[in-house]
Amino acid sequence: MRISILSNNSTLYSTTRLRNAARARGHTVRVMSTSNFSLDIKSGKPGVLYKGKPASKVDAIIPRISANQSFYGTAVVRQFEQMGVYCLNPSFAISVSRDKLRSMQILSRHKIGIPDSAFAFGKSDIEPALERIGGAPAVIKLLEGTHGAGVMLAESAGVARAIIEALQVAQHNVLIQKFIAESKGRDIRAFVIGDRVVAAMRRTAKEGEFRSNVHLGANTEAIELDEEYTRVAVRAAHIMGLRVAGVDILESDSGPQILEINSSPGLEGIEGATHIDIADAMISYLEDQIKFPDVDIRERLTLNKGYSVVELPIIPKSSLAGKSIGETTLGEQEIQVLSIIRDSVTIPTPSSSEIIHTGDILLCFGKQLTLKALMPEREKRRKSKPKTISQEQIQEVLDSTEHVHDISADRP
Ligand SMILES: Nc1ncnc2c1ncn2[C@@H]1O[C@H](COP(=O)(O)OP(=O)(O)O)[C@@H](O)[C@H]1O
Ligand SMILES: [Mg+2]
Repeated sequence: MRISILSNNSTLYSTTRLRNAARARGHTVRVMSTSNFSLDIKSGKPGVLYKGKPASKVDAIIPRISANQSFYGTAVVRQFEQMGVYCLNPSFAISVSRDKLRSMQILSRHKIGIPDSAFAFGKSDIEPALERIGGAPAVIKLLEGTHGAGVMLAESAGVARAIIEALQVAQHNVLIQKFIAESKGRDIRAFVIGDRVVAAMRRTAKEGEFRSNVHLGANTEAIELDEEYTRVAVRAAHIMGLRVAGVDILESDSGPQILEINSSPGLEGIEGATHIDIADAMISYLEDQIKFPDVDIRERLTLNKGYSVVELPIIPKSSLAGKSIGETTLGEQEIQVLSIIRDSVTIPTPSSSEIIHTGDILLCFGKQLTLKALMPEREKRRKSKPKTISQEQIQEVLDSTEHVHDISADRP
């Protein structure tokens, strides 16, 4: 396979490790800097130039986009997606994971632990936002900070207000977050590849520091993640649409709380702590995944005239509750149940004998008119159309299946 690693520094530990691992597995690999690419955006013929010359064909891209290269780095990844090249992480997911507000918003709709967070748009919203997250001490974060820079702990409401106001004046947007004191300067980094946590470590901040970033001198130790933390880490990566991710988790009194999900997680700290060959695991995963090209589900499934993918909630008086899928008239009405979401666990491609329970959410594909008739009354009154689900949800459901589960097109 011809693999291109998109990295602006070929001497970095992670880049070197990935290049060597790919070579050791018999691939041709080249480290290419995103800033040397030019994008050719022509109808039916998206292309790239590298250092001004047509770039040689590659089969797969491993994006290692640094924080200061987010805009153009993701544009280059997106261009490869348009060219039908498999990208280990999709460009939209990289963009979303870079923005702490966007990430927390997306995670918040799922039953997954996150620290209570708020966003204050203007000065007058600072006080109420602080109150909503339970007051001081509070953590204040710049939306696009990394390595702990831009993460502050305000011990009192007065200090919090002053910091937020100052940042607002300087035109910085900040996320206000409940301080999880019991995590005591510690967090967990889970390295997710596909549907597995391949390695995990606990990071402990140095004396007098609440941020446990390795770049700030935190200590690392290998740990074995329990089932709950493993499930949460994989799920968080899937919700974000990332196939390879470094998921940061706080150990709170109420269980795992996701802090952030990194789309180009560093290998040095975690390989050093765990002695696991993560680079090799990434290349081996890439070899498996290349057989599943990206599919734009929205375009393929929902843009067909009159067809839609919807989430059908099974309310107590639903005529479907208690029946198996085969016993319902869904099949006759040419409605396909793609999956059932039950207690936040997804049952992919359920069989016709699967019993539908009250509280289930059925992900269905079919004619819009037929689906509309099935939607519960309240939904019908509120909206004339059935609720079309977001691509994130489709992504999540498909990611949790063992089938082709990639969506390439950028999300709005
Ligand atoms: N709400 C919080 N409660 C307790 N500690 C936190 C909280 N948010 C961040 N931290 C600490 O600060 C570190 C950096 O925060 P994070 O959101 O991961 O930003 P960065 O992207 O800069 O790493 C975390 O690893 C954690 O140790
Ligand atoms: Mg972090």
